[in-house]
Amino acid sequence: MTDRQHRVRTTTWPQAIAEAAKRLEASGVHSPRNDAELLAAHVSGLKRARLLIADAPEEERLAEFRSLVELRAQRVPLQHLTGSAAFRYAELAVGPGVFVPRPETELLVDWALARLPEGGTVIDACSGSGAVAHAIATERPDTRVWAIEIDPDAFEWLESNLDGTGAVPVLADAVAPGTLAELDGGVDLVTANPPYVPFEIEVAPEVKFDPSGAVYAAEAGLAVIQPLAVRAARWLKPGGWFAFEHDDTHGKAAPEILRVTGFTDVVDHEDLAGRPRFATGRLGLSP
Ligand SMILES: C[S@@+](CC[C@H](N)C(=O)[O-])C[C@H]1O[C@@H](n2cnc3c(N)ncnc32)[C@H](O)[C@@H]1O
Repeated sequence: MTDRQHRVRTTTWPQAIAEAAKRLEASGVHSPRNDAELLAAHVSGLKRARLLIADAPEEERLAEFRSLVELRAQRVPLQHLTGSAAFRYAELAVGPGVFVPRPETELLVDWALARLPEGGTVIDACSGSGAVAHAIATERPDTRVWAIEIDPDAFEWLESNLDGTGAVPVLADAVAPGTLAELDGGVDLVTANPPYVPFEIEVAPEVKFDPSGAVYAAEAGLAVIQPLAVRAARWLKPGGWFAFEHDDTHGKAAPEILRVTGFTDVVDHEDLAGRPRFATGRLGLSP
């Protein structure tokens, strides 16, 4: 064994993780230790807690780990490196071509599930990886869920993530009047996390790996939200609910769009950081 091989084989997982966390911290990664541990767990196939007591990794595994850490240091999203994103109780397959689901969207799902009647009908517009549709379909198997996505690349991820859940993926423009028109007037709940970031807003380096059509929208970020509110009002039955995520600059505009479209019980909700994050409303009981 050469000196170099000896040195590599005696690097333990905790040492490799500590070294990686420093590298990630220096490149501005938000949660360096967490990401280093998750990459080590991914490469080793071990649970995070086991890494502390695991045998020193082989040279090949260590090299693989370090090359992933290097990509993460270049701000490639962690989820693109591991190939999956945790969302509520599930791991969804993600990668280039599809938006990585964010934890704040779980709050919208909580809200939506609490209003969903037994056996209800749901449309998740702008479904991306299917995070919201997957959560509703698997956490409430009594309901019927449709998931609409316009981008054919994202749609491939959607189809595979929804496989076996009972939710129906639909490749279409959610704001086009004919999309799922057969459900008009019969839907209990419409959810959406549409593209909503105004073009002029500077985003974190990781966001540049999301498809731009999943992130940005014209008209100060409201170009999809506005027609979607109109479409949602057609899908919903009287008394049905609409919930959509929005940019934190839309704390006033988003609820206003709901009101002018005829929704009642309009509320804007904050995320865990206290920023305006999603708006909800109910279709009036009388036309
Ligand atoms: C912010 S991502 C959200 C994905 C997923 N709902 C989530 O929360 O992780 C927005 C998604 O909406 C899709 N999209 C944009 N405009 C659309 C439209 N008019 N109809 C359907 N999907 C649309 C994008 O391609 C993208 O996948």
